[in-house]
Amino acid sequence: MTEASVVAVGTPQSFRQQLARSLEIEPDEVGWVQSATAAEELLIHAFGPIDVLVLSPEVKEPDALGLAEFVGRQAPGTAIVMVRDHTWNGLLPAAMRAGIRDVVDMTQGTEELRDAVERAVVWASNLRSVGIARSESHGGGERGKIISVFSSKGGAGKTFLTTNLACAIAEVTGQDTAVVDLDFDMGDVFTYFGSEPPSNIPDLMALGEGATHDRIRSVGLPVTEHLWAYGAPSDPTAEAPAGEAIGKFLRAMRNDFPYVVVDASVDYSDSALVCFDLSELICLITSLDVVGVKHLGKALDTLLQIGLPRDRFRVVLNRADSKVGLDASDVERVMKVQVDAMIPSSRLVPTSLNKGRPVVLDEPSAEVAVAVRQLAGKFVDAAGVPDDVVTTNGDGGRKKKRRFART
Ligand SMILES: Nc1ncnc2c1ncn2[C@@H]1O[C@H](COP(=O)(O)OP(=O)(O)OP(=O)(O)O)[C@@H](O)[C@H]1O
Ligand SMILES: [Mg+2]
Repeated sequence: MTEASVVAVGTPQSFRQQLARSLEIEPDEVGWVQSATAAEELLIHAFGPIDVLVLSPEVKEPDALGLAEFVGRQAPGTAIVMVRDHTWNGLLPAAMRAGIRDVVDMTQGTEELRDAVERAVVWASNLRSVGIARSESHGGGERGKIISVFSSKGGAGKTFLTTNLACAIAEVTGQDTAVVDLDFDMGDVFTYFGSEPPSNIPDLMALGEGATHDRIRSVGLPVTEHLWAYGAPSDPTAEAPAGEAIGKFLRAMRNDFPYVVVDASVDYSDSALVCFDLSELICLITSLDVVGVKHLGKALDTLLQIGLPRDRFRVVLNRADSKVGLDASDVERVMKVQVDAMIPSSRLVPTSLNKGRPVVLDEPSAEVAVAVRQLAGKFVDAAGVPDDVVTTNGDGGRKKKRRFART
């Protein structure tokens, strides 16, 4: 009897059940992570070798190829099987070249999938038995913490919080910090510093291919002591980078910076989802009005549904002193979440934006600056929790190794 670890990759979660059914095992004997980037995280942190990653039809082709390339470098003993719900026109050779072991057309029934996974397991265990060990290269040393800020409603104060939080973290910790604008369409992180992005999307994405410390620093803009900003000018003609490429870029950033604070886009774009996969903390921000709070509730539900763990989320109420008939306890009661910070409304915020100098630097003793600094203090502590407590992706990342028995 042989045991192997098999991990289903990609939404929906029911893909895991589908895979388990076709392997004739229990669903909890198969691991699951929600995306290609989450699978890369799992490979980096896995306690033991993973034999096979089985990619759901929802995993996009560029992400699958990027994952295959990552596996080739970091975990060459892991096999990849792709499941499609249509014929993979013309891309099969690319998949094979990338090292994907099999592409299974789900419309042909589940037997083909079982055979493909079993072949992949045999291949992986043969490889191990002849001593081709999984690479232990984990991208080198200590890695930084990614904190992302999200709101599905525009104008909630996402960029205000991202930029000020990044300044406060750099100040409180005295450590090098990066602030990243992932809102490639309409980002305005640089405006808060009164400057323009110095690089373009290809420059940023190229950092994911093993850039050196000097190269990483040269593509960013130093905006204040210990703080570098990363982003690209909006270019409506540019194609959005693949989620998996964003994952590599963010990992390069966190390899070089102890803290990376990210302004994620307003929608559930690939880049935002990848950013959440890699974030230790996801800060959901809303203003105190019924529409904003509704958006927050929906965002939390959506993100929990795709497999992000609840303990990763923090809730920030912005302009929380407004006398608008809602308060934090209403939000906590309705949403069943704890509010982690309340940031007052202040005219110093638009004033500092117009000056191009974040309010935590410009008016450090103002109430609004103090509130952000306190939040930074909490985040720095929270991010100091050992990795195995907070760095998990879905439940696949938490398990040492999933096994299924094969006769
Ligand atoms: N606490 C606050 N007090 C006063 N004004 C604020 C506060 N927070 C944000 N603002 C103002 O609200 C406006 C929107 O803030 P911000 O740009 O951070 O929103 P956003 O969520 O990033 O919006 P977008 O969806 O356009 O990216 C800005 O003019 C900002 O100065
Ligand atoms: Mg913004």
